[in-house]
Amino acid sequence: MAVALAVTRERRDGETRCAVTPDAVKKLTALGCAVTVEAGAGQGSSIPDAEFAAAGATVAADTHAALNGADVLLKVRGPTAQEISALKPGAIVVALLDAYREKDTVAALAKAGATAFAMEFVPRITRAQVMDALSSQANLAGYRAVIEAAHSYGRGFPMMMTAAGTVAAAKVFVMGAGVAGLQAIATARRLGAVVTATDVRPAAKEQVESLGAKFVAVEDEEFKAAETAAGYAKPMSAEYQAKQAELTASHIVKQDVVITTALIPGRPAPRLVTAAHVASMKPGSVIVDLAVENGGNVEGAKLGETVTTPNGVQIVGWANLPGRIASDASALYARNLTAFLGLLVKDGALTVDLEDEILKAAVVTHGGVVVHEGVQG
Ligand code: NAI
Repeated sequence: MAVALAVTRERRDGETRCAVTPDAVKKLTALGCAVTVEAGAGQGSSIPDAEFAAAGATVAADTHAALNGADVLLKVRGPTAQEISALKPGAIVVALLDAYREKDTVAALAKAGATAFAMEFVPRITRAQVMDALSSQANLAGYRAVIEAAHSYGRGFPMMMTAAGTVAAAKVFVMGAGVAGLQAIATARRLGAVVTATDVRPAAKEQVESLGAKFVAVEDEEFKAAETAAGYAKPMSAEYQAKQAELTASHIVKQDVVITTALIPGRPAPRLVTAAHVASMKPGSVIVDLAVENGGNVEGAKLGETVTTPNGVQIVGWANLPGRIASDASALYARNLTAFLGLLVKDGALTVDLEDEILKAAVVTHGGVVVHEGVQG
């Protein structure tokens, strides 16, 4: 019998993405799954129910019908309490659980006896690159952040020489040059901006420069050791932060657009831009804070809002930037999920080997308990 796989409509915070696309339905069916999609699941990503049906999915009228007998539930965000209560014992859930913060969801999944995998915990090893949802979504978020900035900025990005005069190129400063930051640099450069960028990881310098941007950072001894074995940034000392704030103060005053993307896994985002930095910027300048959902890199940023400061600087704090480019975000995420399912479904049957390096890193709940060390307690 085929593995019963359900995809429900996302209900959290205006989530527009969908865990599968018609293309993914075909691939999952070929893998040995019988896919059921809740009606309207693709709406936010411009995928009509009929396209899911044409790809071989059963379209269910509501969440309950979709989850009835499901072996596996695929989601973008963590399941709701209603979804969890409708799961059969031992069901598998795969989603961007945001497990460090969504502790109630994790606890409820454990209580329900679900085996839940957090896509954000998939390790960044070569074999798992195709499943790397953090990267696929961050890349689109970085692109979209520049588009949001360009939309809010009352001037152009490229230098334009016209008969009526010259329009100066915008100066864009990208803070945090990971996946999102590098795509923001590339996008801002394509639009013709003059781009500078900063990070605390030395490896970022060459990547920034290879995209044609200038690297600006406090490059002391601490900087040389700021990257963890996993490739992430370490939290920096108060002394480093003070030096960084000083450098930011002298640089930011000359910028038109600032895009902040700095994150440290499992911790609040580092505060990189203070109210004083913002107050020093020119009226009309725009800041986009991609870290706003993790506490924000920018003082004064508000989740889900654009704040205009007394000196006329706009701070854009949209949540879920990938959801603002939902069709592409869903397509890439669905490919990440399909590849992940390839680890769980073999020859048309569920075979969950929790000793597999990728599954071991991603599993959060199993056998009625929270098994992920970082999330326990
Ligand atoms: P992230 O989303 O955790 O953080 C974004 C950026 O913020 C990082 O570049 C980080 O160094 C920077 N940052 C943190 N604290 C900062 C501070 N105080 N000041 C300035 N910048 C700060 O990182 P992301 O985008 O997930 O990438 C992390 C690393 O993983 C990178 O080295 C990336 O190249 C690597 N990576 C490797 C992959 C693979 O090998 N399969 C796939 C994707 C990323």
